[in-house]
Amino acid sequence: MHLYPASAEILNRNRKFIPGGVVSVNRAVQPEIVFVKGRGAHVWDADGNRYIDYHAAFGPHLLGHNDPYVTEAVTRVLREGASLYGSGTTVLEGRLGELICEHVPSVESAQFLNSGSEATCQAIRLARAATGRDHLIVMQGGYNGWHNDVACNLTTPLDQLGPRLCPGEYPFHPISSGIPVDHQRLVHIVNFNDLASVQYVCEKYPIAALITEPILQNIGIVKPEPGYLEGLRRLADQFGFVLIFDEVKTGFRHALGGYASIAGVKPDLVVFGKAVANGFPISVIGGKWELMNWFVHPDPSKRVMLAGTYNAHPVSTAAAIATIERLLMNDGEVYRRIEYLGDQMQQGLEKIIGGQGLKAVVARQGSAFCIYFMDHCPKDWHDLAANHDAALDGKMRQGLIAKGVYFFPVPTKQCSISFAHSQEDIEVTLQQVQNTLGSILR
Ligand SMILES: Cc1ncc(COP(=O)(O)O)c(C=O)c1O
Repeated sequence: MHLYPASAEILNRNRKFIPGGVVSVNRAVQPEIVFVKGRGAHVWDADGNRYIDYHAAFGPHLLGHNDPYVTEAVTRVLREGASLYGSGTTVLEGRLGELICEHVPSVESAQFLNSGSEATCQAIRLARAATGRDHLIVMQGGYNGWHNDVACNLTTPLDQLGPRLCPGEYPFHPISSGIPVDHQRLVHIVNFNDLASVQYVCEKYPIAALITEPILQNIGIVKPEPGYLEGLRRLADQFGFVLIFDEVKTGFRHALGGYASIAGVKPDLVVFGKAVANGFPISVIGGKWELMNWFVHPDPSKRVMLAGTYNAHPVSTAAAIATIERLLMNDGEVYRRIEYLGDQMQQGLEKIIGGQGLKAVVARQGSAFCIYFMDHCPKDWHDLAANHDAALDGKMRQGLIAKGVYFFPVPTKQCSISFAHSQEDIEVTLQQVQNTLGSILR
C-alpha cells in the first residue's frame, strides 16, 4: 500500500504560489502524487514508489519515458549549438515537414505549433476563413482543447444533457467560464457515430467545419462504426464544410499516417500533437495545399495569421524527427510490438472479466485500451454515460494505483501501452487487475 507524505509536502508548498498547486485542471486528481522521474514504462514519485505507467502523460509517451534515441537527438542539437532564432526558417523544420508530408496521406503541407489546442484553434480559424462561414460542429464526448470553440460537452452529466437527441443537437455545456454566449451559438454539438444529426445541423446553419477525433479517446476508446468516417467525408463534400480530424491522441500512436490512414478516409485538415514527439511540446496542422495556403494568402485581408515565438522550437522539432525515425525503423517494429502487447493485455483482461463473471468489455485500438463496465462497447457518450459503472471503474483505478499500476484515476480515461513496456509489465498489471477487482467484488 503506497503512502504519499513527500508528495503532500511538495503540493502544499506549491499551492502557496500556484492556484490549486497544479498547472492543468486535468492534473488535479486523487491520490495527489508528485512524480519525480520517468524512464521507459515506469514512473517514480517523491516518496520513492514505482509505478507501471499507463497514463503516458495523457498519451505522448509512445516509445516510453525518456526514450534514449529521442533524448540523444535532443541533446545533440543543444550540443551543436542550435537555438531559437525567431527569424526565417531552419533545416530541422524543413526535415520534419518533409517526413510528415511523406508519411501522412492527407497532408500535402504542414505547419508547426506547440500544443494540440493551438493546432485545433488554427484549423478552425482556417476553415472559417476558407469557407466564409462561422458555424462549427463538435462531438459530445470529444475533446479538442481548451479554447472557446471547443471547451464544451466532454463528460456532460446526463441530467444536464437530457435525453438522446437524434437527429438533433445538444445544448452547449461550457467546461470553462468566460466563453461569450454569442460565441457559444456558433457551436453545434452532436452524437459521435450519428450522421443524421450532422445532416440535420448542416441543413439549419452554414457550417464552416466539423472537428472530431476519429476515435473518441478522451472518454476511453469509442470507435467509429463502419461507414461513419466515410459518411462524414460525404457530408463534408455535400455541404461544403471542412472536415477536420483531430488526431492529437490517435495520430502516430496507431499509425504514422494517423488513424485516418487505417480507416482509409481523408480529412481536409488534420492536427497532431502528443505522440508525434514522444513527450516534447510540438503540434502539427496539415492538409491540402489549397487550404494551407490561406496562411500565406497574397491578400492580407484574407490571410490567416499563424505565428508563435516557440513554433518549431529546435528541441521539440529534433524530438519529433527522432520519434518518426524511430517509428520507421526495422519496418515498423514499434507498431508490431505495441499491437502484440495490446493484444496480450486485451486477452488477459477479458479472461479476468470472464472469470469473475463481470459485466464488462475491453475496447482497444493497438496500444490504447479501456475497460468499460457495461455489456457492450459504447458508440457515443450518451450510451457510455447511461450504461457504464463509473463508480466501479473509479474504485479499480484507485486500487491499482495503490498497488503500483498507474491507470489515470478518472473513470473512462484511456490506458496507453508504450514500446518500452515489457511482457512482464503486462503480466504484473494483469495480476494486479485480478487482485484489485477480486477484492472490490468480494
Ligand atoms: C484529441 C485532443 N485534441 C486536442 C487536445 C489538446 O491538446 P493540448 O493539451 O496539447 O493543448 C487534446 C489533449 O488532450 C486531445 O486529446
